[in-house]
Amino acid sequence: MENSLTLSLNVNNCFFSAICSPGSSLGSILRDHGWKGVHKVCQTGDCGACTVLIEGKAVHSCIYPVVKTAGKSVTTIEGLANNDQYSPIQAAFLSEQGYQCGYCTPGMILTATNMTYKSEAELRRKLDNNLCRCTGYQAIIDSIQVGQGKLPSNIVDYPISSFSQVGHNIPKQDGAAIVTGKPIYAGDYIPTNLLHLKVLRSPHAHAHIQEIDTTAALALPGVHAVFTYKDVPRLAYSNAGHGEGAPDAKDYYLLDNKVRFVGQRVAAVVAESEAIAALACQLIKVDYQVLAAVFDPLEAMKGEIVIHDEPESSKIHDYQRNIAAEIRMEKGDVDRGFTEADIIIDRTYFLPPVQHVHLEPHVAVTWLDETGMLMVRAATQVPYHSQRILSEILDLPKEKIRVIKPNLGGGFGNKQDIISEDLCAFATLKTGRPVRWEFDRSEEFTATNSRHAVQIRLKIGVKANGTLVAMDMDAIGDTGAYGNHTATVMFFVGVFPLGIYRCPNQRFVGYGVYTNNMPAGAFRGYGATQGTFPVECQMDEIARLLKLDYIELLKRHLITPEDEILIGRDHEFHVIGSYGMPKAIDRVIEAMDYCPGKPPLIDGSRRRGIGFASSMLASGLAKIYTSTARLSLKADGRYELRTGAADIGTGSDTTLRQIAAEVLETTVDQIDLISADTQEAPFDCGSYASSTLVIGGQTVKLAAQTLRSQLADVASQLSLPLGNLAALAKAAIAQGYSLTAEKSFSTDQVSLTFAFLGVEVEVDTATGRITLLRCVQAIDLGQAINPRICVGQVQGGVAMGIGYALSEELKRDELGQTLNSSLRTYRIPLARDMPPLEVILVETSDTYGPFGAKGVGEIGANCPAPAIANAVYHATGVRFTELPLTPERVWRGLHNEGISTGS
Ligand code: FES
Repeated sequence: MENSLTLSLNVNNCFFSAICSPGSSLGSILRDHGWKGVHKVCQTGDCGACTVLIEGKAVHSCIYPVVKTAGKSVTTIEGLANNDQYSPIQAAFLSEQGYQCGYCTPGMILTATNMTYKSEAELRRKLDNNLCRCTGYQAIIDSIQVGQGKLPSNIVDYPISSFSQVGHNIPKQDGAAIVTGKPIYAGDYIPTNLLHLKVLRSPHAHAHIQEIDTTAALALPGVHAVFTYKDVPRLAYSNAGHGEGAPDAKDYYLLDNKVRFVGQRVAAVVAESEAIAALACQLIKVDYQVLAAVFDPLEAMKGEIVIHDEPESSKIHDYQRNIAAEIRMEKGDVDRGFTEADIIIDRTYFLPPVQHVHLEPHVAVTWLDETGMLMVRAATQVPYHSQRILSEILDLPKEKIRVIKPNLGGGFGNKQDIISEDLCAFATLKTGRPVRWEFDRSEEFTATNSRHAVQIRLKIGVKANGTLVAMDMDAIGDTGAYGNHTATVMFFVGVFPLGIYRCPNQRFVGYGVYTNNMPAGAFRGYGATQGTFPVECQMDEIARLLKLDYIELLKRHLITPEDEILIGRDHEFHVIGSYGMPKAIDRVIEAMDYCPGKPPLIDGSRRRGIGFASSMLASGLAKIYTSTARLSLKADGRYELRTGAADIGTGSDTTLRQIAAEVLETTVDQIDLISADTQEAPFDCGSYASSTLVIGGQTVKLAAQTLRSQLADVASQLSLPLGNLAALAKAAIAQGYSLTAEKSFSTDQVSLTFAFLGVEVEVDTATGRITLLRCVQAIDLGQAINPRICVGQVQGGVAMGIGYALSEELKRDELGQTLNSSLRTYRIPLARDMPPLEVILVETSDTYGPFGAKGVGEIGANCPAPAIANAVYHATGVRFTELPLTPERVWRGLHNEGISTGS
């Protein structure tokens, strides 16, 4: 290595010499030497996931020069435990479950290890440089306080007796690996002989590639291959990880001769190191014929610029008008309904593009095993869809491709698309060598997916007594350069937000429109998050206009199990299998101490208001989603559960084992799990659509019941009593029985989960700043299989919804360049931004889910934005129709309405 130097390092009391370049960061050296608990996320010192201790002081190792560590002791998460004794903070993170995906956890633990603070507020401020996207921070704050002896643990030991696995806070089974920094994530595996992949990305939003010259790149020492569109098969496909037959446009190419957004991949370089691959990318000469671009979907629909004019693409609704998908649903007679209305409210709302910000980036490692099997270890939510899509684009039989999903550092929908494993696998097939491809943070913001930006016009007609007579929604969604997910996302924009209300006449028209922006795809809430905003704001507006109590108006119009469920006769696969929404509303009102008609509190420039919002979401995906589970009794008396279901940090690997253990009258620790591996586990659609627990869980339950029946047969054959399953299992093993049960399950009907949120805000009219004072979120979730995991899911969803409401937005210039492609400039909620959040689990018993459960993974994200906007209206009398509610936007809005803004 040129200009290299050799440094003596002391890491976790292990002394060794490392060859470094002068500019090497400590984090990169630590990871290269095997300390994978030092997580690589931002590389700019903004997130804290790479935190280590130097002489006991927490530093961000990604920006800390390794040369400064000479003669100093470095402690990583792997070295924190003393003689296998967890440190107090580690132990508390484990006991309080201060993690979900765990990608931020080592950094959180090390940051907190020697931290001092006087109050919880100060603790939250001191975590400003540590981001978590999963937990909403409360479990982290509790863990730190317990670890420092400032709070007692509020966790009761989980029961280990039989018959009690479901409904209890069984700890997430990956906790020990997470708090000790084990190499459990996709990118942690480093095969020998590894090559690295980097891509050259387009600087233009819309251009034809006239010519590419890769000569100089190929000549660079260390470069093994360069691929362009000329080297890959010309095959149109959708990279959306959906089941076959899904309505996604086939408009994507492994590498293309036309670019459609800034950041699109143009060429791939495979080299001995990431640095060489990156350098080689700069040596590729591309001759672009730059085309006019369009970034506004309304403009795009005029068809003056056509984004997908290539003949190979298919399943595009109207390519000449850039319409990837069109959705129409209607119930009753909307036009006649409006003639019966005394009042009509007609507004247009603007929802921005936002990004998932899972801390673990997209990463794939691919290689050929000794039998020629293509091995793919990837950060994916959908291993089986990944296998199928790879099979299609690489022209390999599925049986020759094995996709493995290890622990995932968050996904939130963005890892439902096949955008990293494809080129990586192609490069392995071409070079015969293992290849690794990891996105950097800027690529996550510019070259993956966003939530659909949607412009929604909503018109509601109501009688003077408050009766809804017509609801009409038009939504134009920006699907960006590709149509992955847009048909289904746009369906969700209308179907659940409108469907929650009993109104005889409803209409929805939605378009997913191509533009030259980064693609939009799946994102927690999946369109319902966007549609919920206008509907819930307008319900609040109606109540205030008619001087009705909002809660009364809501209760009068919420659908009940007796109502026709949803608009559109084709969609009766959504049913209400349990209904706790009225109770959820009552619990929130009580917790908020809500008093109808109470005016806002005003203190100088500060005004306080209260707002509410409701949401409904499908609990799983009917007809399409399939899961398979295989359960076996092992020779040692334990059970083995194999399922293709993919835990993406949510804890489903634990809850599925709870379900199996409950049926088999054993405990979770007696169930060995093999999951999300296309060779070792049976088929499952993957993790999306709040389906893993309700459909995957039902499948596990069926398999467990079948195995239980087999044990009963053994009892009958051996004339043994049925009473004790463990004794029966022992007897079956002793008699040489081999018991295995496999079940596949899909369903024609899924239930609906409901949510109701109350918030109190303080608006400073002098600055436009909104402070959240408290949030109470009730979820009608059927039965909670694991209440603590459910609460964690809701807390994380609400935090994401708060970011959507207040701060998050991908900003782009007039050429389509993203302006805030770092964790410093794209602002997700910090620990200090989160208000006191009370989560109320309203339990009923659902007819459709396993043990009466419904899905909770997504719905928490839907209510914060409208509830906050409604609270701001209550506080100020100004109605905001565009997100996010940044101080600048709020200040301007107040100023325009003549509200004193202190200037
Ligand atoms: Fe914090 Fe996932 S648990 S980022």
